Amino acid sequence: MNELQQNLSKEDKNIQFYDSVVVLDFGSQYSELIARRVRELNVYSELIPYRSTAKQIKDMAPKGIILSGGPNSVYDEGAPVCDPEIFNLGIPILGGCYGMQLMAKTLGGKVVKADKHEYGKAILEINPKDKLFLDLESKFTSWMSHGDSVLELPEGFSISAKTTNTPCAAISNKDKKLYGVQFHPEVIHTMNGIEILKHFVITISKAKPTWSMSKFIEESINQIKAKVGDKDVLLALSGGVDSSALAFLLHKAIGSQLTCMFIDQGFMRKGEPDRLLTTFQNEFEIKVHYVHAQERFISALKGVIDPEEKRKIIGREFIRVFEEESKRIGPFDYLAQGTLYPDVIESADTNYDPTSGERVAVKIKSHHNVGGLPKDLQFKLIEPFRKLFKDEVRRVGRELGVPKRIIERHPFPGPGLAIRIIGEATKERLETIREADSIIRDEINKSGLYNSVWQVFGVLLTSVQSVGVMGDKRTYSNPIVLRAVTSEDGMTADWAKLPYDVLEKISTRIVNEVPNINRVVYDITSKPPGTIEWE
Ligand code: XMP
Repeated sequence: MNELQQNLSKEDKNIQFYDSVVVLDFGSQYSELIARRVRELNVYSELIPYRSTAKQIKDMAPKGIILSGGPNSVYDEGAPVCDPEIFNLGIPILGGCYGMQLMAKTLGGKVVKADKHEYGKAILEINPKDKLFLDLESKFTSWMSHGDSVLELPEGFSISAKTTNTPCAAISNKDKKLYGVQFHPEVIHTMNGIEILKHFVITISKAKPTWSMSKFIEESINQIKAKVGDKDVLLALSGGVDSSALAFLLHKAIGSQLTCMFIDQGFMRKGEPDRLLTTFQNEFEIKVHYVHAQERFISALKGVIDPEEKRKIIGREFIRVFEEESKRIGPFDYLAQGTLYPDVIESADTNYDPTSGERVAVKIKSHHNVGGLPKDLQFKLIEPFRKLFKDEVRRVGRELGVPKRIIERHPFPGPGLAIRIIGEATKERLETIREADSIIRDEINKSGLYNSVWQVFGVLLTSVQSVGVMGDKRTYSNPIVLRAVTSEDGMTADWAKLPYDVLEKISTRIVNEVPNINRVVYDITSKPPGTIEWE
């Protein structure tokens, strides 16, 4: 076994059984998406730092290498560069955008600032004989985002695509299996993008498409059994997709050695705690330890208005309860966490610092998830999903029989309804927002629109009151903000254009059925500049 393999944790070893394509990450917002797209082709893919040496990469034995885009110009001071030896490994390489420019410059070509920047859609004219574009139509739309362009090709390369503004929109050196594209094949706006990636991954790199969720489950179960032996495992269950799928996987692997702890903070939606217990405990016979902590959380939030403080208090209290309870009902040797691949690579909400070459996290909100327990708890960790993307966890969940209503559930924040009350979260206000939320979900379900929006929920504004009239009487009460968004991944979002009749039903019912609410307003802010949640 080589050095890199020895360094991999046990959970990571399964990846060695699959053909893989690595993505050298130069800081593009799309780097992670490239890996996801490759996995959609059933080939394992992961992001590795751009600094990885040729030796390290060779030891990983990938079938292909993709150089991602990035925010820099190859001529910027401190611009990230890869080990030039990677071009001599004999492994096929595809450079995208910055990756192509870096490849061209490193191999002796010339890159210049383009006369015209090209952002957005551009019509690509390709050579359909080039292996990357084999048998595709000769013109189609591509997605561009670049200021620099390749002016002179390195030796052995030829041009395989152009656009009006970019004469070198794709280049290739067939003999060395080196390819470059100026556009982004991974984004949906590029027509035939997935076909192009398929040509690189399957045809050129000859990777076998054997990465599948059923195999992942089979191997994970073996690994969990081998690791845990006859010891006990604790899992913090929230009822969301990740912790639910994890509970099912662990239950299948180790049965009654698994205990799920569900902490009821009092911030869940109407009927959810009961539904969760019925599903896990009664229907699937998974052991659940239910902690009634509603009073404790409400008292901790007394008088707290600041959103960050609220989130921190809820997170802190959650950890305290978890520690106390696990000591009381334990001991447990292992703690299972639903950590996902994006949490590991930390790319989704990070920026790239061109001078230090490091990714820098930009903190907008503190997230306290059940997966975010501190590392100094006295447990050994198992994190079977640490190499999976969210959509892969959904597929794992589906294969394991997790009910559809859990798999398809909209995201729900860890601090729950408490952060959907703008102001102090009191028992009474929680009831108000819970009722409004229940009506919203009911109407969205009835309209058949549930799966066409990313999230839809209400926000209670406690410091705003407005005048209204109900049954000849003047009212002076709080409004509910209706928030509905469409999104691919929660990182950016658009406000959803819900039909007027659905908006009308929601508004009428909330004002009629929820005490102390006399007005409903609709939030028409996208993200950015807004965030999805209000706190
Ligand atoms: P924002 O409000 O930052 O939210 O645009 C992006 C997505 O994340 C969800 N969200 C959370 N999820 N714990 C979570 O598990 C949290 O603390 C949390 N806060 C926000 C939010 O609902 C949206 O889908």
